[in-house]
Amino acid sequence: MRQMLKTVIEKVLVVPSIKLARLWPVLPLVALVRLLNGIQMSPRQLHHIMKTITGKSPCRLLVFGVGNDSIFWSLINRGGKTLFLEDNPVWFEKITGRSPGITACLVDYATRRKDWKELLETPARLEFSLPPMVGGQDWDIIVVDAPAGYDDNTPGRMKSIYMASKLVKKSGDVFVHDCNREIEDIYCNNFLGKDNLEREIKARIGNLRHYHFAGN
Ligand SMILES: C[S@@+](CC[C@H](N)C(=O)[O-])C[C@H]1O[C@@H](n2cnc3c(N)ncnc32)[C@H](O)[C@@H]1O
Repeated sequence: MRQMLKTVIEKVLVVPSIKLARLWPVLPLVALVRLLNGIQMSPRQLHHIMKTITGKSPCRLLVFGVGNDSIFWSLINRGGKTLFLEDNPVWFEKITGRSPGITACLVDYATRRKDWKELLETPARLEFSLPPMVGGQDWDIIVVDAPAGYDDNTPGRMKSIYMASKLVKKSGDVFVHDCNREIEDIYCNNFLGKDNLEREIKARIGNLRHYHFAGN
């Protein structure tokens, strides 16, 4: 009964709390949204990405990975295009089933994290056929929070980081989560470039890096 009540309260509060955070983007409200949705990124990380999105919204926002934060990104980018790419079919069904308003596509990275060195030496193998909905190089903001990359048998984020560097438009922003991990760090330095690093926000569950690309 207590659990049911908790679930109902959470469901009723999720969308209004996100809309309130969009109107009044203060850290305590973002922390509340995080708590209600069970989001992994820290409040400061969410708040920083959110401010970048609202500063450009309505914009074209591409997110590698679906999760408890998907509904948040979709609602924050009001009137814009937000597209999610996910490789885990079970997780895809679970998240899209409970966030019916989001637009998401299934993808297959066909990589294993253990092959990261070989892939780094042959970048042509990082090229990746994405769904037609992704289109060209005109994404204002890209968030890389997938695929899983916590051990050698997971796909690793080699292709998603590489593709983010190709798909972001000039003057765009790329955010990469879990940059405290070796492979994310190496791929970010290699493909997104230390010179473009705007900020790094540390957290207990994964550091977030923000890369900004100057326009011309
Ligand atoms: C670290 S998660 C992203 C979490 C998201 N930012 C959130 O707050 O929910 C990245 C990837 O891990 C996988 N993943 C995360 N949680 C999972 C779960 N409970 N079951 C299966 N796969 C999961 C999914 O493929 C997802 O795209």
